Amino acid sequence: MKYLTNRQITDLYKVSFDAVRKWINAAREGKNELQIALTEPDKWQIADTSKNHEIMKGMVARGKTRKNRLALKMTDPKPEFYELYSPAQQLDIISSIETYREIPLQYGYFDGGAEYWDKYANRLLNEQSANMLNKTVELIASNLANLDRLIGNHKRVNVIDLGVGNGLPVKGLLDHLLKRGVLNRYVGIDLSHNMLEIAKQNIDRWFDGKVSVETYARDMTTERFKDLLVADYDTDTDKPLNIVTLLGATLLNLRDPEDMLRLVRASMMPDDVLVYTTKLDTANARRYFDFNTGEDAAMLADDHRMVIELLGIDPSMYEPEQFYDAALRSRLIRIRLKLDVTVRFKRAGGEWRVELNRNDTITLWRAWHLTARETVDQFDQSGLRLLDASVTPDDEYLITISRPSIIKPNRG
Ligand SMILES: C[S@@+](CC[C@H](N)C(=O)[O-])C[C@H]1O[C@@H](n2cnc3c(N)ncnc32)[C@H](O)[C@@H]1O
Repeated sequence: MKYLTNRQITDLYKVSFDAVRKWINAAREGKNELQIALTEPDKWQIADTSKNHEIMKGMVARGKTRKNRLALKMTDPKPEFYELYSPAQQLDIISSIETYREIPLQYGYFDGGAEYWDKYANRLLNEQSANMLNKTVELIASNLANLDRLIGNHKRVNVIDLGVGNGLPVKGLLDHLLKRGVLNRYVGIDLSHNMLEIAKQNIDRWFDGKVSVETYARDMTTERFKDLLVADYDTDTDKPLNIVTLLGATLLNLRDPEDMLRLVRASMMPDDVLVYTTKLDTANARRYFDFNTGEDAAMLADDHRMVIELLGIDPSMYEPEQFYDAALRSRLIRIRLKLDVTVRFKRAGGEWRVELNRNDTITLWRAWHLTARETVDQFDQSGLRLLDASVTPDDEYLITISRPSIIKPNRG
């Protein structure tokens, strides 16, 4: 039998003499499978066999992994992370990072993210150039006659606002319905309590408390709203019409927009209408990444940065990236990690470690790009048939008014 000298092993496997001595001692104690022999008094050597080489290769690889682990940056989410998000929402964030390397955008509208959106929306409203908010306001104003026609003889109209923002986009519609004397309830649905509070305060202020505002903190991608309508249908007469609003291209930010549309359709009554505004796919839209409030030109807007900051991932650990991805037909904002990072989530019974590697990207924001025709098809396949549509003269913004179709939504 041939034996390897310790020097041969250190040269071959780029390990220290100390490491080889430790392997031999471990073999003597039966803690590894290396075949060794006492070749001289007090001199143990490792046999030159292919099995021993396999074992040594494995130990070197494991040693490297351990070393890398030690060099990893460990981060702990801040206490506010656990205060702001429910255990189920925390789990949603963790599993979305694990599975999709993505932070669901809806969690960015909590707390400071909501105040940020309020400021941002006010900036947009006062901007001279076209943007999602001022065009939504304009498109709704120019479609009030169409909505009146659909309201017909209904004496009561509810506005069910999905993803309320600060309430600005529905202000004109509420004003119109209030003046016509048909506004019954304004029902705001949003995941963020803070956003709902801001919208409620604004609507109370704008209309001197004349609008009956109800707010519900719900995830519109997973929860229906039909239960909120029940009380209105207790009597035979005077059934209300529900105008469901989904404004500001919120749908484009979701991972599975059609899933949400089918859920919305399932909550709507047969005569209800869905008012939707969106940004269309144009060369100009592909370049649009202007999300700051005007005071702070930092590349990542507060609402996009909020969750990663709460996770303890600070700007020294990543490079932000924003671009239009032609293959995905999406604009993306994401971060690329400059080092390996392990996030240690506290769970009730222990810890959940999410291991992220250098060069991994985490998506913070996405917007799907669709043409007007594709939007109508998307609604059609989700069981919503088009009643009216208009596009702004620059071809960049679209409003659609739809109603549940009788045909079953295509689940394919
Ligand atoms: C892009 S903003 C649009 C706000 C407003 N509709 C507008 O046009 O200005 C998205 C809004 O939807 C809410 N939101 C996003 N995802 C949600 C979800 N899954 N469930 C409930 N609300 C959500 C956010 O909190 C925020 O208020």
